[in-house]
Amino acid sequence: MARRFHIRTYGCQMNVHDSQKLTSLLLHAGLEEGPDDETADVLVINTCSIREKAENRLYSDLGELRAWKQARPGRVIGVGGCVAQQEGDTVLRRFGHLDFVFGTHNLRLVPALVAAAEGGERSARTEESRSLERFDLPRRHPDAGSDTPGRAFVTVMEGCDMFCSFCIVPTTRGREISRPAAGILEEARALVEAGVTELTLLGQTVNAYGRHDVRRGRTAAAGTLPFAELLRELDRIPGLRRLRYTSPHPIFFDDELVRAHGELEHLCPHVHLPAQSGSDRVLERMRRRYTAAQLIERAAALRRARPDLVLTTDLIVGHPGESDADFEATLRLVREVGFVDAYSFKYSPRPGTAAAEAAPDERVEPALAQERLERLQALQRDQTLAYHRSRVGQKTTLHLEGESRRPGQVRGRDPQHRVVNVADAPGRLQAGEYLEVEIVEATPHSLIGALIGATPGGVRPGRLDRTLQILPAS
Ligand code: 5AD
Ligand code: SF4
Repeated sequence: MARRFHIRTYGCQMNVHDSQKLTSLLLHAGLEEGPDDETADVLVINTCSIREKAENRLYSDLGELRAWKQARPGRVIGVGGCVAQQEGDTVLRRFGHLDFVFGTHNLRLVPALVAAAEGGERSARTEESRSLERFDLPRRHPDAGSDTPGRAFVTVMEGCDMFCSFCIVPTTRGREISRPAAGILEEARALVEAGVTELTLLGQTVNAYGRHDVRRGRTAAAGTLPFAELLRELDRIPGLRRLRYTSPHPIFFDDELVRAHGELEHLCPHVHLPAQSGSDRVLERMRRRYTAAQLIERAAALRRARPDLVLTTDLIVGHPGESDADFEATLRLVREVGFVDAYSFKYSPRPGTAAAEAAPDERVEPALAQERLERLQALQRDQTLAYHRSRVGQKTTLHLEGESRRPGQVRGRDPQHRVVNVADAPGRLQAGEYLEVEIVEATPHSLIGALIGATPGGVRPGRLDRTLQILPAS
């Protein structure tokens, strides 16, 4: 019987997508995907180090996995992702039951590392590469479906050259590198051909795509395009219904990209625009390269181009040097831009980053940071609910994801990426289909819709979407 693998994924969408790529690679290598740790012979942990808490998950997981490994001879444990990239050999040395470590540029080595581990070898491969080769993966294995039928990620660039004061990503993901457009378009067309109708372009600073080539006048040689042009090309793919991208950096919203939001038929009216702070002093210390006024101007430009556009954001409280007045400026920014949702975090020092070197008297007390976080989240909750209420009575289209947390209901996303639950959906609806609904109720976390009619979506069962499920009758 084929050996079974299972992957545990922590962190951002980039990691989720890396795990999908790994799944495809391991399936091509003849392994089978298992549903859980229990049935697995090979367990891979794809780690995140964006904040201390995420990093600590790896160490507690590895502690617990000693028993897992001993329970059956021949079991193999591998660790990849951002912690692996940073710690490499150190984790291997510290945990004797760990078999291999692979960095963020070394996904392609994993089948060989598994084979070597099965032969008793322990190794760490975390070398960084600036080569485009990492984008040359074998065709997605037909059994390596996406997590949600009908939707898929496509990597357009990797790495980050921004070096924001607080952020470990430039260390863990390396330098910015943009993938040639031909490969992106070919992958996107193949996905749509296989039944995908919603594509999300991925990159650490996704709208920085191609910028180094544009600046040096070498897009033709590199095969890249300005980001807005890439979107235009993708938007034309017949059968594509929704196009998204994440995460952009505010400084790379040029006029072309703003205009694209008003012109491209399938580009969704949602931008996740990480602001981090509303204080110019803190933004400067964070090395974000924009002011609050510039961010507000770009947000307004996007809304002029596409009036129903929803903006969401990431915010950090308690960055070294953040005063009460700086924090108040963040609250003002949230109000002024009218963010519909926010991921907000307490600053977590990451060794090796600029902010981690801050003088002790500049550190914000954890209790004060917690208080700020709670105030920020309370404001955002009110704002989210107010937006949801403004949608009641409107018609919209959902891309169905599956069963809702609310029993008997199905859930989907509208073009603005808001979660909509539907109570009266007919039985035998498939995830991946589109539904026309009217919003009838607003809750703090989601909208509630009532069915207007069902339109068949683009999912062709049995090809890409192994996870395709028949939804229960309500
Ligand atoms: N501490 C807290 N939050 C952080 N983020 C990145 N680094 C840190 C850190 N050291 C947040 C930022 C980023 C999101 C993905 O995580 O808001 O946009
Ligand atoms: Fe981190 Fe800043 Fe790069 Fe985003 S732009 S990944 S926050 S360094």
